[in-house]
Order: sequence, then structure tokens, then C-alpha cells
Amino acid sequence: MRKLANHAFHGENLKGMIPAMIDSVEAMLGRWKQNEMKEIEAFQEFKVLTSEIISRTAFGSSYLEGKNLFDMLTKMAVIVARNNFKVRIPGIKIFLKNQDDIESDKLERGMRDSIIKMITAREEEVLMGKLDNYGTDFLGLLPKAHHETVLAKKITIDDLIDEYEHDNLRILTAISSCFNITREVQKEARLGKLIVPAKTEVSPSTQTLHHNPQIWGEDVHFFKTERFAQGIAKATKNDVDAFLPFGSGSRNCAGMNFALTEIKIAFSMILQHYRFTLSPTYLHSPVHILTICPQYGLQIMLQELQITDPGNNLLYNGAVRCLCSDG
Ligand code: HEM
Repeated sequence: MRKLANHAFHGENLKGMIPAMIDSVEAMLGRWKQNEMKEIEAFQEFKVLTSEIISRTAFGSSYLEGKNLFDMLTKMAVIVARNNFKVRIPGIKIFLKNQDDIESDKLERGMRDSIIKMITAREEEVLMGKLDNYGTDFLGLLPKAHHETVLAKKITIDDLIDEYEHDNLRILTAISSCFNITREVQKEARLGKLIVPAKTEVSPSTQTLHHNPQIWGEDVHFFKTERFAQGIAKATKNDVDAFLPFGSGSRNCAGMNFALTEIKIAFSMILQHYRFTLSPTYLHSPVHILTICPQYGLQIMLQELQITDPGNNLLYNGAVRCLCSDG
């Protein structure tokens, strides 16, 4: 499955996704146009944008169903986050369901149905000759793997669904850099002063690592992007493994290139049109709900860029298409 995700979100496939990314950002900028000099809730806007882009690129023609799936995953992520550190007797869920259990069971069924619907629709399109093949997006690669004749490479529908849910919960974290990295210890190991028994699941806190003054300096709590101007090694005092926004090793983020491409496209397009400042209504209250989120949203004020010549004639009023698009 990891190989499929790597294939779907890299190289030529990734290049093919760029027009969809541009279209989604343009749609967002179109909505903002009606909001000039008004307040925008940027956290919500970027959530919608991410969902839009991933639905268009990973689910192709099943885009609307993809959005539906994404909404269910968002709700599921909130439930997972709410219950992440709650300790319960193993298996109790079978006999005694709380409101979250009932809701998450319902969402899980909904997600299964939605995924089966999308895979079946894609298969039917191929069978009826509407499509030549399953396609190279993530959705297309899955039925291909399901129909694989080599048994070792074959994936069952249940595998597909589990992976979809698992991967998409991770995809949901696309906005923040504080997603948990989890590993199982294979053999008893020493971790600093701790002896960690085999089979223990450890989840090093990237949040703590990314806020350690010994690595980043006393100004660690300030938002200073210029600390990266000379590269990560300089910013981390040569401890590059201390910066893990996309994890590390063979299970690092499969969507890293996708996410970085999306971020670069979105910001290059936004910054061609607007400058922005924090709104006076913004209340700084970061919370950890799977990722670091602004608890009361991220309200910003937009101001459209206007460029004039020395004679004060308007040369540019922000209404230009992305330079990287064909148009
Ligand atoms: C800024 C955006 C994103 C950030 C900061 C991020 C961060 C992460 C992190 C920290 C991990 C855990 C890595 C580890 O355990 O070493 C991860 C895993 C993963 N991410 Fe992302 N991610 C982002 C966007 C995406 C996107 C857009 C996709 C898909 C298109 C994606 C797909 C995955 C998958 C499939 C995994 C699991 C990899 C595995 O277990 O082999 N991520 N991500």
C-alpha cells in the first residue's frame, strides 16, 4: 500500500495534479474576491482547500464522493483526537458503547460504503468502456492492485478500506507540522534513562522537539521563519534530525512532495493577489486536535495588491492568473 501511495503522489503523477491544485486555489481566491478588506477565517479556508485538492487529485471523477468521504474523515479525526489519551478496558467497546463509539461506528460504515461506491464506479467505467484503464490517481491504483493476479501483490477490499481510512486520517493532518510519529520497539532498547520493553509503542513528541530551546535557541517560541534562511542544519545547530515535520525513515510522510507542491502553489498565487494582517478579532489559543490548530480559528484581514506606475495609473489590481498555469 505504501508503494501505491508513493506512486500516486510522485513524479509524473504529481505533475499531472498541478492543474487541479491551481483550479482549487483559483476557486478559493474567487470566493475571497467578495471579501476584500473583510475578515477571512483562514484555518477553515485552508481546510476546505486541502479537502478540495485531495478529492480532485486522489479521487478524480469521483470528486464529490471523495469530498463526502473527506467530511466523514474530518469528523472521525475529531473523535480520535478526543479519545486519543483516554484509557479504557480493552474490548469494553463491544459491550458498552459511548456516544463517540456509536458515532465512529456510523462514520466507519459510511466510509466503507463511500469507498466501495467509488471503487465500483471506477470499475464499471472501465467495464463499460468509458475509460481505457483504472487511471493513475490513488483511487485508480487500488482496484488495479485488487485485480492483481500475483497473489503477493493482491490487495483485498478490506485492506483497501483500512488503508484508505488510515492514510486519509493522516492526510487530514496536512495543515500542521505537529503530527505524531509512532513506532513499535522491536527489541528492548535504552532511550536516554529509560529502558523500553520490546513491542512498546512509542510516540516521540515532535511538538516538544520543535520547541526545545537547546536545539532552536531561546527565541524558539517566536514565529521566526528567517531562522531557516541558511538551511535546516544552521537552524538546528547541525542537529537536522530534530526537525521532523514529515517524520523520518522508511515510513515518513508519503504525501510530502504533494503537500509541499500544494503549499508552494497556494502561497505563490495568494501572494500575487493579497497582503494580509491578523485580524483584531483573532484570539491566540493553539490546541492539539491531532495537529496543532487555532482553537477559535485564524481570522485575517485581506488587502488586495494594487500596483501603480509613477503617474499613479493602476498597473495591476490582483486579478492575474497564477503564473504557473497555462492560461
Ligand atoms: C503539510 C502537510 C503534511 C504533513 C506535515 C504531514 C506529516 C506527516 C507525518 C509527520 C507523518 C508520520 C511520518 C513518520 O511516522 O515518520 C505522515 C505520514 C503519512 N502521510 Fe503525511 N503529512 C502531510 C500531508 C500529507 C498528504 C497531503 C498526504 C497524501 C496525499 C499524506 C500522506 C501520508 C501517509 C500515507 C503517511 C503514512 C506513511 C507510512 O506510514 O508509511 N500526508 N505525514
